[in-house]
Amino acid sequence: MTLTKDISEEKIIFDVNKIRKDFPILSRKVNGKPLIYLDSAATAQKPKQVIDAIAKYYSEQNANIHRGVHRLSQRITTEYENARATIQKHIGAKHAHEIIFTRGTTESINLVATTFGNKFVNSGDEILITAMEHHSNILPWQQLCEEKNAGLKVGTISENGELLVEEFKKLLSGKIKIIAIAHISNTLGTINPIKEIIALAHAKNIPVLIDGAQSIPHTKIDVQDLDADFFCFSGHKVFGPTGVGILYGKEEWLRKLPNYQVGGGTIKTVSFAKTEYADIPLRFEAGTPNIEGGIGLAVALDYINAIGLSTISAYEHKLLEYATEKLSAVDGLRIIGTAKNKASVISFVIDGIHPYDIGVILDQLGIAVRTGHHCTQPIMDKFGIPGTVRASLAFYNTKEEIDELVKGVIKAQQMLK
Ligand code: ALA
Repeated sequence: MTLTKDISEEKIIFDVNKIRKDFPILSRKVNGKPLIYLDSAATAQKPKQVIDAIAKYYSEQNANIHRGVHRLSQRITTEYENARATIQKHIGAKHAHEIIFTRGTTESINLVATTFGNKFVNSGDEILITAMEHHSNILPWQQLCEEKNAGLKVGTISENGELLVEEFKKLLSGKIKIIAIAHISNTLGTINPIKEIIALAHAKNIPVLIDGAQSIPHTKIDVQDLDADFFCFSGHKVFGPTGVGILYGKEEWLRKLPNYQVGGGTIKTVSFAKTEYADIPLRFEAGTPNIEGGIGLAVALDYINAIGLSTISAYEHKLLEYATEKLSAVDGLRIIGTAKNKASVISFVIDGIHPYDIGVILDQLGIAVRTGHHCTQPIMDKFGIPGTVRASLAFYNTKEEIDELVKGVIKAQQMLK
């Protein structure tokens, strides 16, 4: 399938079949059937450019960074810092030192909850999140609130899975110390109006952390335009390696935060009497990092930028519309999450059938979806369901794969009824 779209007055041709050849795993079979991978919100597949960069690191470049005078160490240090600069540019950060390498979104959020919480949250204060957060953007704040005797406030969502902004505004009292909110819901696909929320929060001097785990593969991010105080994402969801993630923090905030983990790499000088710590970002990067992860992440970002995020978004939007139309036509199927502004994530339930059973039958057909609560149990409680089947699409998926999904769902329904 080929999509032609006018972007910035240029005609850009998006050839999905050509793109798919970059992803070796997409040509394998599962249960004797061609793999149909519809679980990119859990983890995205990797193009060979990323795989090759990791293999090259271990076969030609392996050395530690920031620690050696020898040639390999010097070279890989430069490459790692170049990766940081690529990431900085990709999200529109003002400075490279505002980019902190972590293990992933979860660690990035924990870093802020712990350090910001230690310094700025006290008994009687409040933290504001929403009812559509992933557990990783609930638990660090819940734990902090328990430790500090603070209150966790939750912005409610509508039946179609949209944040009720007017209600949310009413929660913005002087007690709120920070807001933590997903850019895109991993379960509902809802795209939250984060720019508006950040502006509302800043009008009351409240900083905002954005969980960008699900937006980074689909949307152009510009942290300065958003005016985000913190923005977190994972490498593996944006076609990069696992075990690496990013915490972006505005310089003024990062400088105010106390240390998180300390150890090798975080210091200027150490003596038993006193330790002088390094400047940001190294002060937050204890121990030998995931070097190939950082480099692989930058290669992944170069890869998607070569296609163009507006091209990717436009293509995925077409796929989403197509999948929504086809799945909605299946008898007894209900889509959970029908926000007006949605990314390519479709959760659904089918009358009288457990999502897990549908997932097992789809797997027999070579179709990979996620089933269950997707680490968002409060969303399941809100909709009164045990879980959903979730198909999450990336730019390497096709209409033909969606047709196979729909056929598979109908087959599962016939077998299980
Ligand atoms: N957060 C990931 C998901 O939504 C793992 O599947």
